[in-house]
Amino acid sequence: MSRVAERDRLKPPRNSNQITPGIVRHNCNRHVRTHVLTDGASTRRIERGGRSLAEIMHAAVLHTLGKVPRYEEFPEPVAGDGEVIVHVHAAALKPVDKQLASGAHYASMRKLPLVCGSDGVGHLSDGQRVFFGGARPPYGAMSERTVVPRAFAFPVPENVTDETAAALPNPGVSAWLSLSYRAKLMAGENVLILGATGVGGKLAVRIAKLLGAARVVAAGRNQQILGTLNKHGADATICLDMPARELKDEFVRAAGESGFQLVIDYVWGRPAETFLDAITSKEFSVIKSETRYVQVGESAGPTISLRAAVLRSTALTMLGTGGIPPLNILVDAMQKVMSLAANGEVHVDTQRVPLSDIESAWEREQRGSRLVVRP
Ligand SMILES: NC(=O)c1ccc[n+]([C@@H]2O[C@H](COP(=O)([O-])OP(=O)(O)OC[C@H]3O[C@@H](n4cnc5c(N)ncnc54)[C@H](OP(=O)(O)O)[C@@H]3O)[C@@H](O)[C@H]2O)c1
Repeated sequence: MSRVAERDRLKPPRNSNQITPGIVRHNCNRHVRTHVLTDGASTRRIERGGRSLAEIMHAAVLHTLGKVPRYEEFPEPVAGDGEVIVHVHAAALKPVDKQLASGAHYASMRKLPLVCGSDGVGHLSDGQRVFFGGARPPYGAMSERTVVPRAFAFPVPENVTDETAAALPNPGVSAWLSLSYRAKLMAGENVLILGATGVGGKLAVRIAKLLGAARVVAAGRNQQILGTLNKHGADATICLDMPARELKDEFVRAAGESGFQLVIDYVWGRPAETFLDAITSKEFSVIKSETRYVQVGESAGPTISLRAAVLRSTALTMLGTGGIPPLNILVDAMQKVMSLAANGEVHVDTQRVPLSDIESAWEREQRGSRLVVRP
């Protein structure tokens, strides 16, 4: 390379627009001189031609939808109006993070690169420990620092660990809202949880009981976890791993005379179809009980085939979790779930993993517990 070309290559950028996520790291990395260590060993000031460009941190960075994120450097976030910087302690690796990164989720971002992770726990610059969500793209929770709206940073009770505080809100608040806000569970009602062996399902079993459900039936595939669900409050279990005909009979038996007034469904797909088939009447009959069915997840499949007769022969109301609820409802649910954790009334099994291991952790099976990534 000529000396003039070499000099141009090392020129500092002319304006800050050139310091955007992805551009700084890719174009500059090989030519960067290092760097003011500001925080432990990981925050460095990028310098080129003797001029400081931006600070960088480490994060789980996604470059292509459907691929695994990589542990890489990424520019530091800067807070705008109404936003705060969070120094991240822990972020749970949840199904929704994988769905978003795969491109299969309805809210998958198309603009890349970005930092993975939809929520986590950290502290603000004033030291307050918070659970946070809603990072401004391209920032996310799986990084050393992130930027979120102030309204989406909730205080965490002192006696709740970082791991629990990171792992609980997504499945716990969702279970609480599905049961109380969406399905309006009343004491004495019967509840069926489809996908009860997962992190969300186990919490839904527990919370349904705490909210006064009379009978909670827990359905899942994993026999070993099914065998433990009585400790969470399940009155009976159904193994989903059986031929459709037999599964249908199991649902009919479990529904009994009084039926299920609520179904919380984490799986959709074949188990949902089989349950709906089971409650479809084969004759003109007087309705004994109504069923509110809340669609929460799609672990068994994103679609079902719904026969018209299901809706004409039963008093079925199908609901979804319905996006993010009004902030006052969300804050109330968050406080209730956190205080249940603080009092030891709900629990999530967690496993710690360092952020630097994100690539291998991403594909790891979780089996009823939640990986919690620590920067
Ligand atoms: N909308 C919301 O607010 C919200 C919040 C939390 C979660 N979710 C969604 O709910 C679902 C479960 O979340 P999670 O946190 O509980 O996940 P998880 O801990 O990974 O549990 C997954 C559950 O799905 C079951 N499952 C997986 N594949 C299945 C299949 N082919 N057939 C039947 N069951 C299958 C598992 O059963 P086994 O363990 O028995 O194999 C387990 O019960 C995900 O789709 C997630 O995105 C939605």
